Amino acid sequence: MRQPLVAGNWKMNGSRASIAELLGGLKAGIGQVTTAEVAVCAPAIYLADTRAQLDGTPVAWGGQDVSVHASGAYTGEIAGPMLADFGCRFVIIGHSERRAYHGESDQTVAEKFTAAQAAGLVPILCVGETLEEREQGITEQVVARQLDAVIAHCGLDAVGEGVIAYEPVWAIGTGKTATPEQAQEVHAFIRGRLAAVADKVRVLYGGSMNPKNAAELLAQADIDGGLIGGASLKADDFLAVCSAANR
Ligand code: PGA
Repeated sequence: MRQPLVAGNWKMNGSRASIAELLGGLKAGIGQVTTAEVAVCAPAIYLADTRAQLDGTPVAWGGQDVSVHASGAYTGEIAGPMLADFGCRFVIIGHSERRAYHGESDQTVAEKFTAAQAAGLVPILCVGETLEEREQGITEQVVARQLDAVIAHCGLDAVGEGVIAYEPVWAIGTGKTATPEQAQEVHAFIRGRLAAVADKVRVLYGGSMNPKNAAELLAQADIDGGLIGGASLKADDFLAVCSAANR
């Protein structure tokens, strides 16, 4: 059985003070979440604070992006070994905001997947269609292209060691969640595409998941957890989603 995973994506939010409060709340409540694996992906500059508070708790932490390079003259970038140096277990790769605002191509995303694994991190690979693509009826084509690029570059076995997050772009931060049926359909498609490693790869759903809709989404056969943006910024909401992932 795949262990559920709930990962928070704080994006570019928070301050030292607000993060200390959020982590304090998580630490206080995490004892009730017994079976789901839980992680938070912090802005890189707050990883030291995050580590200091979460070390020794069941909550893991991770980054939100990684350079394709391991070191060198790449001003402003964060390398995989640096994330590992701060105890990160996970790193988000190919989030739609990186693809849209930073021009990350499928090839770049594939290279980042490799860079993350080379540093011993577990990549959380984001895939998903825009509203326009869904309306054109090409959701599966888009998701297949995004996945296949990584499979071609890294190999299926490597992909099997990672985590996939299906995040329909139209559902991110909009309050519009995919219905459980819509999400399950794409999750089943993704699993089908993963062939020999399908049974072990966790496929998370992301896009306006919150305490109200989490249970229904997480009840779907191929939804193994969530990548949570807005609702991960409040300890109570995030913990409620984590509890909904318990099996
Ligand atoms: P959201 O973000 O939960 O705020 O929609 C999810 C994500 O972008 O990972």
